[in-house]
Amino acid sequence: MGAFVINGGKPLFGSAVISSSKNAILPIISACLLTDEECIIKQIPGLDDVTGMCELVSNLGADVRVDGKTRNIYICAKSLSGHTAEYELVSKLRASFLVMGPLLAKAGKAKVALPGGCPIGSRPVDLHLKGFEAMGAKIDNGHGFIEARCPGNKLKGTTIYLDFPSVGATENLITAAVLAEGQTIIENAASEPEIVDLASFLTKMGAKISGAGTDTIIIDGVDKVNGAEHTIMPDRIEAGTFMTAAALTGGDITLLNVVPEHLKPVTAKLRESGMEIIENGNSVKVRGIARPSALDIKTHPFPGFPTDMQAQLSAYSCFAEGTSVIVETIFENRFMHVNELRRMGAQIRVDGRTAIIEGIESLQGAQVRATDLRAGAALVIAGLAARGTTEVLDIHHIDRGYEFIENKLQRLGADIRRI
Ligand code: EPZ
Repeated sequence: MGAFVINGGKPLFGSAVISSSKNAILPIISACLLTDEECIIKQIPGLDDVTGMCELVSNLGADVRVDGKTRNIYICAKSLSGHTAEYELVSKLRASFLVMGPLLAKAGKAKVALPGGCPIGSRPVDLHLKGFEAMGAKIDNGHGFIEARCPGNKLKGTTIYLDFPSVGATENLITAAVLAEGQTIIENAASEPEIVDLASFLTKMGAKISGAGTDTIIIDGVDKVNGAEHTIMPDRIEAGTFMTAAALTGGDITLLNVVPEHLKPVTAKLRESGMEIIENGNSVKVRGIARPSALDIKTHPFPGFPTDMQAQLSAYSCFAEGTSVIVETIFENRFMHVNELRRMGAQIRVDGRTAIIEGIESLQGAQVRATDLRAGAALVIAGLAARGTTEVLDIHHIDRGYEFIENKLQRLGADIRRI
């Protein structure tokens, strides 16, 4: 399962290049199923989730080629042979559910295993299915699979109101609407930057989309879309994770390949707690100039504070001066890092969706376990700042979303190694 051994207390210095966004790549790989022509997705990081998504579209019959040198992925779904995404893969990679939209749009049918839950929550897909049904699909839910078909192989454009601005539901419905008959309007849509990146890729393919990045997205269906090339947006959560690590260890780092606009909620909180953040074009400089002061954080859909940064800022708050209050409004069980941080001496109390953190001068190194991707990242951050040695177990969770995180941290002066 692998582990990281971290000797804490070393400030981070130097610069690092942020990789392409995992959460932008996954729906874009799925969107390649919409066309018979080859798509090129550029500079892809080596992430287990990306490998998994490529494996899935390849199992569906798409031709997938990864160029090790350029890090480009070439995908051609001309000979789609299947329309079933098996449980074996979907249970490991929930984002597999994102193939339902393109398969319905392109092949008029899709059979995808119900993703099931994951450590952070039950992760239902009801909003996806309600949207597909509104577009005329017939949905059968049985034996652990969702089977969807649309009469005459053509979805019908319509207006869909999302009860919650779900990122995945928005992405699935946009891709389904691209080839639908007529206009689809998605109201109360998610406005995360990853949605904008998906819409930008689809537009290059010939889709007609407006409003991406707002809560109302309009898609005018077209008969077909073509291949396209795309460079994926930088990973705002990887950037936020490194910013938090630099701030907490009293370091001074520059992150390259970032979009400061995407980092506003994290930048605001780090500044509020006393850190110096200097934005300069597509780079950001972070100086940890003092012990952090306590923070109040409430996660919200974009442009609010991202749930994917909650665990990292919770770890950060353990070292702060004062009491921090962290409210997780998106997922019902996203405090899995708390018990592990307690093993390092953190003073945290959890009451439902609220964590109350009494900051202390420092945590002590301990053996801890990554329970999910961002909880694992939070434990690495805590280990970098803690006194003594921290061993983070089950780091395969971390490899899902961070490309060789230890290499980037080592180059910034961290004492971390993979065993
Ligand atoms: C995406 O997940 C991200 N994953 C998550 O990142 C991220 O935490 C989440 O968006 C929120 O920003 C990818 O993009 C691959 P949602 P997604 O649908 O699409 C409820 C990471 O660490 N909901 O916006 O699954 C759901 O239960 C991962 O990189 C329904 O009730 O998130 C949750 O409470 C973790 N019904 C809330 O909405 C539905 O049909 C947000 O879910 C769909 C969602």
